[in-house]
Amino acid sequence: MSFFNPENLEKAQILVGLYPDKRSALIPLCHLAQSQHGHLSNEAMVEIAELVGVQPAEVYGTASFYDMLHTEEVGKYLVGVCTNVACLLSGGQELLEHASDVLGIPPGATTEDGKFTLEEVECVAHCDKAPCAQVNYRYFGPLTNGDFDQLVDDLKSDRLSDSVPPHGVLSRVFRDAPPMVPLEIIHQERRVMDEAKKARLAAQNPDAGGKQ
Ligand code: FES
Repeated sequence: MSFFNPENLEKAQILVGLYPDKRSALIPLCHLAQSQHGHLSNEAMVEIAELVGVQPAEVYGTASFYDMLHTEEVGKYLVGVCTNVACLLSGGQELLEHASDVLGIPPGATTEDGKFTLEEVECVAHCDKAPCAQVNYRYFGPLTNGDFDQLVDDLKSDRLSDSVPPHGVLSRVFRDAPPMVPLEIIHQERRVMDEAKKARLAAQNPDAGGKQ
């Protein structure tokens, strides 16, 4: 049984079909899986590996390298408070401490109800609105302590659900149409390219029988 729900499985297959080399779909598939479940479970990584033809360890290696991909559970709202220079000079450290008090968790932790994960982040390129925070990679700032309290209140009441997608995902907008070139043609061209690559390798390394 697939990790992906039927709708996302269809999106996953479209994503795989979009690239000449299907392993190029690895990161988009990670984002898709994360949008469904909040983080990349082992089950999700194994299925992504099968879809793109790599080992699960390679998916894990990619997912654990990028900050925006999570191999551990995170809260519905991932709150990152910046304490880099511009924010630090404008009260970023105090804002982080306030956020920690309000949410009742230290940076790096998740609230018991699974709603919030708090992170201390480096510059997120919103310096002109220092001190600032991100919630699921949406910007908020400049923030006073009172603004932060209001933000938490709005998130708890789902008043921002139209603008802040759950689960710390980059985007919840996926192309909802198949590629303009039919998938069968893409797959056929891919087979031709694979064959050409094998022939090229065989010509370069006749003793290795074309093995990579
Ligand atoms: S220093 Fe905080 S966003 Fe740049």
